[in-house]
Amino acid sequence: MTESQKIPRHVAVIMDGNGRWAKAQGKPRVFGHKAGMDAVERTAIYAQKRGIDVLTVYAFSTENWSRPMDEVKFIMSLPIDFYKRFVPVLNRENIRIGMIGDREGVPDATLKAIDQAAVDTAQNTGMLLNFAMNYGGRAEILQAIRKLANSDMDLSALTEEKFSDAMYTSGLPDPDLIIRTSGELRLSNFLPWQSVYSELYFTDVLWPDFDEAELDKALEEFKKRDRRIGGLSK
Ligand code: FPP
Repeated sequence: MTESQKIPRHVAVIMDGNGRWAKAQGKPRVFGHKAGMDAVERTAIYAQKRGIDVLTVYAFSTENWSRPMDEVKFIMSLPIDFYKRFVPVLNRENIRIGMIGDREGVPDATLKAIDQAAVDTAQNTGMLLNFAMNYGGRAEILQAIRKLANSDMDLSALTEEKFSDAMYTSGLPDPDLIIRTSGELRLSNFLPWQSVYSELYFTDVLWPDFDEAELDKALEEFKKRDRRIGGLSK
């Protein structure tokens, strides 16, 4: 296997631990989310340098609405901040922005900022930085089923490929590697359809502390994995 085959095409990240990171410094939780956004920026820039094609980051789950209203509002305002600060950086770095998730319920200003960032970076030919925003894996599966049921497709002829095409991630490779920070060992409704053969990497590092060296560690570990995908060891 060549070196480039050992680099995951699609890396997905569950960015956990922002609140604990802030608390450890005696700061409000939102301070951790702000620092988390900086971690998104440096990780995206470095991921592209390492040859990754798609980086999907779990920014807000369908379950996160149950957090205190102020915190939800703050997270929803982050893409607006992100847009202003990072679109010039992303254009310099040739990175595109995308979104997966249920647009219903996301504030208009948040959607507008994400959509604008997607339009303003659409000409870039490098890595796709994909925000999972108001994303829930089971909800994604249900919306795919509804979409297919409302189409004129003969559902008795449904294939895995056609089902994948009805998902938010249509056209993207499945994640080869899923990283979760902060020591939690679960996937929390993140990409359940797409992750069946993903390699999982867990680290105790809190998301705001995640950096180039931590991504290197995850990619080193990925290289050591024997991805049989149902076949035999090579
Ligand atoms: C998990 O930490 C983090 C979140 C639910 C929010 C993640 C959002 C960002 C990193 C910013 C993303 C950037 C944009 C542009 C949307 P937690 O709050 O669950 O931490 P805890 O488990 O320590 O409480």
